[in-house]
Amino acid sequence: MFVVSLSCDPGIGRAVAAETGWRYCEVLRKVFPDGERYVRIPEDCSLKGERAVVVQSMYPNQDSMIVEALLAADALKEVTGLEPIAVVPYLAYARQDRAFLQGEAVSVRAVLRALHSAGYGGLVVVDIHKEDSLRHFPGRAVNVLPVNTLANALRDFVEDPIVVSPDKGAARRAEALSKALATEYRIVEKFRDRLTGEIRHRFVPMPEVRGRDVIVVDDIMSTGGTMASVVRFLREQGARKVIVAVSHGPLTEKALTRLTNAGVTKIFSMVTTCYRLEHPLITYLSPVEEVLQAIKEVLGMG
Ligand code: R5P
Repeated sequence: MFVVSLSCDPGIGRAVAAETGWRYCEVLRKVFPDGERYVRIPEDCSLKGERAVVVQSMYPNQDSMIVEALLAADALKEVTGLEPIAVVPYLAYARQDRAFLQGEAVSVRAVLRALHSAGYGGLVVVDIHKEDSLRHFPGRAVNVLPVNTLANALRDFVEDPIVVSPDKGAARRAEALSKALATEYRIVEKFRDRLTGEIRHRFVPMPEVRGRDVIVVDDIMSTGGTMASVVRFLREQGARKVIVAVSHGPLTEKALTRLTNAGVTKIFSMVTTCYRLEHPLITYLSPVEEVLQAIKEVLGMG
């Protein structure tokens, strides 16, 4: 086995190699003057009959990161004779998981099919928007819910916690986190206007959060709009602290201001992308332990 990092590896490849003793290898990459990508597996990196684990996250520069992952699969399959395993800490295009309007592309399906066609035989992703989307990847695929890492970090920070999901779609995540913290969870109802993309919540009073530490958990936070609206509501309901916990946090300065104005106490985010905003309010956590477990599962070693 050997581990390969592409252009966007948020520190997972080296950690996996160090933990397992598998060889670590950096692929040669360049960008042609017209913007096209190039990938080459160095000769001392690969051996015929040795399987590669390829780490590539897909934010920022989603499209280029996808293409690079496809090129790497093509090259690795050729030089090793085996299908590589893709470790994608953040899978781009996952939120377009169905045709909401007639004629729309199911983007996640297109990306997963492309990864498989390029040569990946197995896939590990961290907290994909909808786990069910993985049915579009014909090989063995495992979704990592980094609930234990989040719960371990949160335990020291909260007293009498309650978990809240900002929409029905994130309920499974909230349920898992509440179980890990031996508490209960609630769901807030969210609606999205499919044409304008505008989000609305239907808030009903939540007296059970008064005086308690509330953890709002979601897969991704980007503009912070979804979270800010929920954080403000929970503060109005009398929550003592409101802590946000997300798997993917490509958060901008503007989004952070929105959350601060809404009354957020603390943000925990996993490191799954190659962009991160440094701020004392934000604590970053590595999903590497859970990812390693998932790689072993895909390889049938776990
Ligand atoms: C949507 O369903 C997702 O789970 C997130 O709630 C959403 O994408 C977060 O985006 P933003 O931070 O831009 O509101």
